Amino acid sequence: MATDMDEGNGKEAGVDFDTSWGSVASGYNESMGDTGDYSHQNTIDPPLFELAGDVAGKVVYDVGCGNGYISRRMVREGAREVWASDISEEMIDVAKSRYPSTGISYSVHDAARFDGMPDGHFDLVVMNMAIHLMPDLNALTKGIHALLKPGGRFVFSTDHPLRYVAYKAIDAYDVDIVAECEDYLVERATQTFNAWTKREDLNMYSRPLSAYLNACGRNGLYVQEVREPKTGPGLLKTL
Ligand SMILES: C[S@@+](CC[C@H](N)C(=O)[O-])C[C@H]1O[C@@H](n2cnc3c(N)ncnc32)[C@H](O)[C@@H]1O
Repeated sequence: MATDMDEGNGKEAGVDFDTSWGSVASGYNESMGDTGDYSHQNTIDPPLFELAGDVAGKVVYDVGCGNGYISRRMVREGAREVWASDISEEMIDVAKSRYPSTGISYSVHDAARFDGMPDGHFDLVVMNMAIHLMPDLNALTKGIHALLKPGGRFVFSTDHPLRYVAYKAIDAYDVDIVAECEDYLVERATQTFNAWTKREDLNMYSRPLSAYLNACGRNGLYVQEVREPKTGPGLLKTL
């Protein structure tokens, strides 16, 4: 597959790659309302807000804001200034026309465009469930870094990349992978298949990816790079 991007517009060569959610703005707004839908309320938003910390008095930028419910919560929680942007004009229209926009400065533009935005101005940049729609992570993160005050935070949520691989492996999309495999989230001592004894007698600890990254973070080892090597050809056949 061609991976060249047309400059600046996120379109893969020969593919209409529109990441805007403008065509579903109204329906998305009905699902999210002013609090987020069930999965946002129960799964996605709690860690986002925990990591964002106390926003009272803070200057916040909500990137890919959709109908703006995260921004409105930031205002309710006492943020001093809230900026919000989305690539979709329809989403921003919905956000402005159906809810009070007091305290929120909305704009329509691609998340990787930063013209006119003040460097070193923000305490917090949030990006809820939108980073996986961005074609150029380097431009995005570089720009966000420039916007942040020293010590500021960039907090984002995204689909777990393994989700789509798992869907493909089981050939089904109407399955809640985490509910089906909830052991994944449980840190525990376990026994697994031992390639040498050919029995389930290999003692190990089973942990989600977050356990390793969080242990590093708690101890001053800030994540700089994560590698996800591909399983070598034939490896699975040897097990
Ligand atoms: C799944 S929605 C999330 C919206 C909101 N953050 C929330 O939590 O409800 C993704 C949003 O990202 C926006 N989006 C997609 N591509 C974008 C881009 N390149 N720049 C800015 N926003 C983008 C979409 O229009 C959509 O509103």
